[in-house]
This record gives sequence, C-alpha cells and structure tokens, in this order.
Amino acid sequence: MNFFIDTANLQKIKEAKDLGILDGVTTNPSLMAKEGITGTENVHNHYKEICKIVDGPVSAEVISTDFEGMVKEGEALAKLADNIVIKIPMIKDGIKALSHFRNQGIPTNCTLIFSAGQAILAAKAGATMVSPFIGRIDDTSWDGMKLIEDIAEIYAIQGFETQILAASIRNAKHIVDAAKSGADIVTCPLHSILGLLNHPLTDIGLEKFLADHRKANELANG
Ligand code: E4P
Repeated sequence: MNFFIDTANLQKIKEAKDLGILDGVTTNPSLMAKEGITGTENVHNHYKEICKIVDGPVSAEVISTDFEGMVKEGEALAKLADNIVIKIPMIKDGIKALSHFRNQGIPTNCTLIFSAGQAILAAKAGATMVSPFIGRIDDTSWDGMKLIEDIAEIYAIQGFETQILAASIRNAKHIVDAAKSGADIVTCPLHSILGLLNHPLTDIGLEKFLADHRKANELANG
C-alpha cells in the first residue's frame, strides 16, 4: 500500500519525506486555503514547490465545476510538473472531464466519493484513482471502511484498474483498516502516520533494554 500525505504544508511534506515512507501528496482547496495560498499564480507556484520535494503523484484539485473550466484548469495544472495528478470532483461534468483526461493520458484522482456507485462510474470514466472519504462517512454514523471493502471487491470482480485511495483518514487505526480492506493508497495527515509508531510496550521494552545495558556496563566498569 502506498502512503500519501494529505496536506499543502511544505514542512509536513518534508518531514514525511524524511521518514523515507512517502509515495505522494494530496491537496484540496481547503488545505491550500489553510496554508494561506490564494490566487492562481501562488497556487501554481506552491504546487511546483511540492513537486520539487516529492517525486510521486501530487494531486492538484480543480475549482471549476463545468467541463470546459475543469479541462482548462486541469491542463494548466498538468503542465506545472510531470507528477501532477488532476483532482476532479464526482459530478456529471467531472465524469466528462475524467474521460477527457484519460484520452489525453493525463492522470486523475476522482474526489468526494461516498458510494460504490460513484466509484464504478469514476472507474468507467477512466479515473486513475478514486478517493472515498472514510472519516466524513464515519462522521455521519455510517461505516467508511465498508465502502473501501465494497469498492475493492467490485474493482477486483470487474477488473477495473482504478486505484483506491482511502482519504479523509483521521487516525492510525483508519490506516490499518484501509490496508486490510483493500486500499491501494492511503492519504493521511502527518499525525495519523506518526500515530502508527505508538505502542506502550515498545516504550516500556526500550526503556528496559537501555536500563539493562546501563546496569551491565556500570557493573563491568566497576
Ligand atoms: C484528500 O484527498 C481529501 O481531500 C481529504 O482526505 C479530505 O479529508 P478531510 O475529510 O479530513 O477534510
């Protein structure tokens, strides 16, 4: 399973990259706004900065909701760097845009997926990736992870090559469950990735190893 970081924050992207486990980045208009990046030129420059840090796929989301607008924006974004993936919302014109970009050989990520039916349509339109939003489904008291399982089962039966990118990840357990449920990629905030590190027995075990080492060396050195 590939690991993407879900942020537009350059420091966090660098921190994840330094761990040696980073395969790509996803952003969205909310994440860009959170970093205070506004205006097309600044947004484009920010994507270029992200693409300088990360070799893998970097999802850049269009703002337009009409076909022509999405194509124009997407084509401009795709020219920024070789690893840009155009993020397209799951709407009717978005489906047309996914087909257009498939025919152009430009990779896409269909975002805001909340049902298996949407995932089928996006795959049929040639999306490179689909982003089911696990956490936001959980927030409505339904089971986000069940959606990953359903999409994985359907794509396997039907032979769809679209990758399942588990998104809206809120914690380390989501990452483990997404891995079990058949996600190809998981995109997470840095704190969820770092959450995978934690286990109290690791801390206790390391403390004991180091204490035993100190004690043995003190005895040996008199
Ligand atoms: C990623 O592609 C999505 O935009 C993101 O994971 C949404 O996460 P959120 O529900 O935490 O905003």
